[in-house]
Amino acid sequence: MSAKDIIQNRRSAYPPQFTGAEIPRETIIAMLDSARFAPTHRLTQPWRFNVFSGDARETFARAWAEAYKTHEGENAKQATYDKFIKKPMSCSHVIAIGMKRNPIVPEFEEIAAVACAVQNMLITASDLGAGGYWSTGGHAFYHTFKPFFGLQGDDRLLGFLFLGMPRNLPLPPRERLSVDEISVWHG
Ligand SMILES: Cc1cc2nc3c(=O)[nH]c(=O)nc-3n(C[C@H](O)[C@H](O)[C@H](O)COP(=O)(O)O)c2cc1C
Repeated sequence: MSAKDIIQNRRSAYPPQFTGAEIPRETIIAMLDSARFAPTHRLTQPWRFNVFSGDARETFARAWAEAYKTHEGENAKQATYDKFIKKPMSCSHVIAIGMKRNPIVPEFEEIAAVACAVQNMLITASDLGAGGYWSTGGHAFYHTFKPFFGLQGDDRLLGFLFLGMPRNLPLPPRERLSVDEISVWHG
């Protein structure tokens, strides 16, 4: 497949769509390897990843649920806590997406570079028959959760990749804005 085909075939896949099979270790390594080649202003390479599989998913789940409880205090809901405990176990792997802050460039550029790296990972996963989605939501902003991933100070936690082996590939395309709708040509 051409790069264009691989990009256009990538779709987010969610735990109910996963077969339950484990993603091969080589696929996860290929994803991380692709992340390294994303563009990065002044070569700061701000992407940092924590990969959870097997029993470590449970460790992640407990830390995630506890971070939720700490953050929400009295507003924490048991159902949401339980969801955080269960969700990682419905995935083959969870990858926490971190940004190691380097003040020689604006923060926006660092976040953009990590997003490019994550897209490389998702495209590589899709090419190799794996899938998942980037989850953000409030948990990306639980500052108390950052040290769990070796992040500190102005580093950022930018969410999680929940990954599995999707069934029924390729997933059907979604309606997208056309080239005409997203571009204004001059000259
Ligand atoms: C930065 C970012 C954060 C996202 N956060 C979530 C999320 O919290 N929950 C979710 O269901 N999908 C999330 N998504 C996935 C989008 O919903 C998905 O990419 C979009 O619906 C387009 O579908 P596609 O990826 O299949 O093309 C996120 C995507 C990006 C790029």
